Amino acid sequence: MDINELKNACEGCKDCPLGLTRTNLVFGVGDPNAELMLIGEGPGEQEDLQGEPFVGAAGKLLDDMLEMIYLDRSKVYIANIVKCRPPHNRDPLELEKNACIHWLREQIKLVSPKLIVCLGRISATALIKEDFKITREHGQWFEVGGIKMMAIYHPAALLRDPSKRPETFVDLKTLQRTIKETCLNTYR
Ligand code: URA
Repeated sequence: MDINELKNACEGCKDCPLGLTRTNLVFGVGDPNAELMLIGEGPGEQEDLQGEPFVGAAGKLLDDMLEMIYLDRSKVYIANIVKCRPPHNRDPLELEKNACIHWLREQIKLVSPKLIVCLGRISATALIKEDFKITREHGQWFEVGGIKMMAIYHPAALLRDPSKRPETFVDLKTLQRTIKETCLNTYR
């Protein structure tokens, strides 16, 4: 199965109630052979309307963050923990995350990235470890199932609290260094 076939299989998913209220599935975007995956939490209003992750205000900031380390969407693969928008942008429920995460796990298997960056606490607690503390542990690498994973603050958190931006810049520079050490194709 390739990533498009997986997306087609996901299109009809009604494994949790979010499948009934979404406008569009937000499966993922970018290079299906990317060495770096970025994983957010779940679609917001704009993402739900457009069917693409990180296209609202937080997405604009994410693009700027990528540009700081000379990357853009075409060089990475971006997805979310849940593929359908939680109503009123609330956090996804345990039931929703549990019902959805197998799609992400299959995406990760197909893309087979060297590095994963979790955007925010919800992604980090789902992928790195359940008790991940974003304020203490952002910017640190963890080895999970043979993949190096790091979490940084969610761009929406950086919009709400710009005082976190300098720390995130340091984390992005750490990411850039590790990409240069471990990824052959990303900066080609
Ligand atoms: N926030 C997320 O976590 N994911 C998106 O796709 C958009 C906003």
